[in-house]
Amino acid sequence: MVSTQGIAQSPQSAQPAFKTAASGARIDVSDVSHRFSLHGAALPVLDDVSFSVAPGEFVALLGPSGCGKSTLLRLVAGLDVPALGTVSSNGVAIRGPDPSRVVVFQDPTLYPWRTVRANVGLGPEAQRRRRRFPWSGVRPVEPRPEGERSAEQRIDAALRLVGLTDFEAAYPHQLSGGMAQRVALARALVNDPELLVLDEPFGKLDSLTRLRMQGELVKLWLDARFSVLLVTHDVEEALFLANRVIVFSERPARVTAEVRNDAPYPRHRDDPKLVELRREVLALLGLVA
Ligand SMILES: Nc1ncnc2c1ncn2[C@@H]1O[C@H](COP(=O)(O)OP(=O)(O)OP(=O)(O)O)[C@@H](O)[C@H]1O
Ligand SMILES: [Mg+2]
Repeated sequence: MVSTQGIAQSPQSAQPAFKTAASGARIDVSDVSHRFSLHGAALPVLDDVSFSVAPGEFVALLGPSGCGKSTLLRLVAGLDVPALGTVSSNGVAIRGPDPSRVVVFQDPTLYPWRTVRANVGLGPEAQRRRRRFPWSGVRPVEPRPEGERSAEQRIDAALRLVGLTDFEAAYPHQLSGGMAQRVALARALVNDPELLVLDEPFGKLDSLTRLRMQGELVKLWLDARFSVLLVTHDVEEALFLANRVIVFSERPARVTAEVRNDAPYPRHRDDPKLVELRREVLALLGLVA
């Protein structure tokens, strides 16, 4: 594994760059290999991947298209089980999806018959149903302490955050691609996750909205203390947001480098330190800076 200024730390020693990191999940990906079968032949996708996300840490994953990043996120989300190795959350092996780990995929999948508000409110609604019907087998989230925001307030706040308050009564077909992506992000945030898993969440946004959403995400993360695992193709985005950037090889993905980014928050995009790190990461990706 290549070593750069940030690297050197073993995953176990990774610490978030801020103090209030009590409620984020700790994620350990240990010796994970995975493969698919394509036209009867084995397609190796992940090759002995190990890294951790400390509670409250923001980690970005960068790598060539098709190397296996989304596959890795599916394993962390509990949507698939690794062929070899383990993925655990707070020391417990991940065996399926859980409301504490929320994923926003590359392509937002909204229910077309539900309004924007009803799509954002899916998580709280499911929680209410689980409390009423505990035999459904899904672990109910503990009731919130007195004084904590109600579901409706959380939906309001999430809609405000993504700038869609005026569109809460609209249906998905009435939205642009970027707006649909923002609904998916609001739907994730409304669940107060311990881990937010983001697969190129801003890929479809116009550049101005993208910059604004990056800023909003940092604010929210600093405030809410969840852990984040973000896949992006945008080196600047990774460096603006993350405490640590993990670089992957071509498929089958191996970890080739980890770059620690200690720039304080809020970050400035023209910070010379970020400019320097950008050069370093582009070189690690095999791109001339
Ligand atoms: N269900 C599946 N069955 C067979 N092959 C799959 C399956 N899912 C993914 N693959 C293959 O695994 C490889 C990795 O796919 P993955 O979506 O994880 O890449 P990625 O790094 O997220 O790419 P991108 O950056 O383009 O989103 C690809 O070659 C893809 O064709
Ligand atoms: Mg992908």
